[in-house]
Amino acid sequence: MQLYGTSEILDNGELAIGECPVRELAQTYGTPLYIYDEVLIREQMRSYQRPFQRAGLPHRIAYACKAFCTIGICQIADSEGMWLDVVSEGELYTALRAGFNPTHICMNGNNKSERELRYAVEAKIGLMIVDNFLEIELLASILQERKTSIDILLRVAPGVEAHTHEFISTGQQDSKFGFDLKSGQIDMAVRQVKEYPQLRLVGLHSHIGSQIFDVEGFRLAAHRLAEQYGIISKNHQINFQILNLGGGLGVRYTEEDTPTPIEKLMAELIAVTQDAFFTNGLPLPLLMLEPGRSIVAQAGTTIYEVGSRKEIPQVRTYVAVDGGMTDNPRLALYGAKYETALALRMQDEPTEKVSIAGKCCESGDMLVWDTLLPEARTGDLLAIACTGAYNYSMASNYNRLLRPAAVLVKEGSARLLIKRETTEDLCRLDCALED
Ligand code: LLP
Repeated sequence: MQLYGTSEILDNGELAIGECPVRELAQTYGTPLYIYDEVLIREQMRSYQRPFQRAGLPHRIAYACKAFCTIGICQIADSEGMWLDVVSEGELYTALRAGFNPTHICMNGNNKSERELRYAVEAKIGLMIVDNFLEIELLASILQERKTSIDILLRVAPGVEAHTHEFISTGQQDSKFGFDLKSGQIDMAVRQVKEYPQLRLVGLHSHIGSQIFDVEGFRLAAHRLAEQYGIISKNHQINFQILNLGGGLGVRYTEEDTPTPIEKLMAELIAVTQDAFFTNGLPLPLLMLEPGRSIVAQAGTTIYEVGSRKEIPQVRTYVAVDGGMTDNPRLALYGAKYETALALRMQDEPTEKVSIAGKCCESGDMLVWDTLLPEARTGDLLAIACTGAYNYSMASNYNRLLRPAAVLVKEGSARLLIKRETTEDLCRLDCALED
């Protein structure tokens, strides 16, 4: 298992993160447990900002909190000078509860409800990323009613779909997000927005995908968008100040993943965007990005306790742990791969190939297929690395399992980000029938 951030192997062969031995964390907080490395989270946030600072370029890096949204993480993002990208009433509520500066919050979403838009307007968030024609009308009427205005970007579907090293340039854009470029929807949207002085149109937004390893998809998107900035400036006399290229930078889950490091990719992204705007004879707008996964994925490690074991001769050995698809649905959903280790015996030689199963009543409830480990015994602690993004945020109570605690570690001390759920929490919203 590759060690990220402050993860280290102690002299006694045990795993420690943030100078906290995992054995002690498991004893104090129970298992399963998400452990978050604060130093690494902050480092990732800074890695996004440094290339812009070096180039003397204004920028906005918004943490896409869909990856992991808790009050504590929002506080960290705020203290690092980040913006925050929210996509729902719940995420916005969490951010506000964290005391996040609302003028540094932007909101995405392809079907924001009137209630969500109203909440965002009342909270005075800094930027609305408008996705569709209905939203233009809804937002304008809320702003008229409240006699206020807001900065907006229009989200476009740029006809670029990126994943790892591949990107597809799709002429015919098939996506539920944003205004279609090819069919001229963006021009119609700009016309519609211009009817409402409450909507201050400051630029365009595009998000081309997730788990992207290199700059090529961004290069194409930047060129398509720069071209649009030129067209819109000519046809509508609007000079945009901001360009949002979304999120999507990939991370290493296993050795199969080879993403460009954040700082390098950002430097390349700045260069390709400068080139795109220069080619179109336009000034470079303020660049905005919305990374989620690359901020928190590697900072998160999940610790489980090993329970039962099933050996099927000549077929497979299943090692079951006390969590599963409820705390990490990514294998079940996407076939995601992870690296794993026995957290108390990090230096023992691997002796067997096993598959890590969860405890849910479902065969698809697997965490890792075919991994090499020292012999895993009941009571061992099993670590799965790189589980900080889209794990807790997609966790469920299937089988009425309790969602684990999440703890933030740094320099030998640990602070709770999220408490472990209790059985009482599970029934909190249930209504008993009266008769
Ligand atoms: N901006 C927008 C508009 C997005 O839709 C997303 C992610 C992001 C930013 C952040 O992208 P990131 O930097 O995290 O790649 N549940 C999936 C990932 C879904 C991503 C959805 N949108 C997973 O577990 O892999």
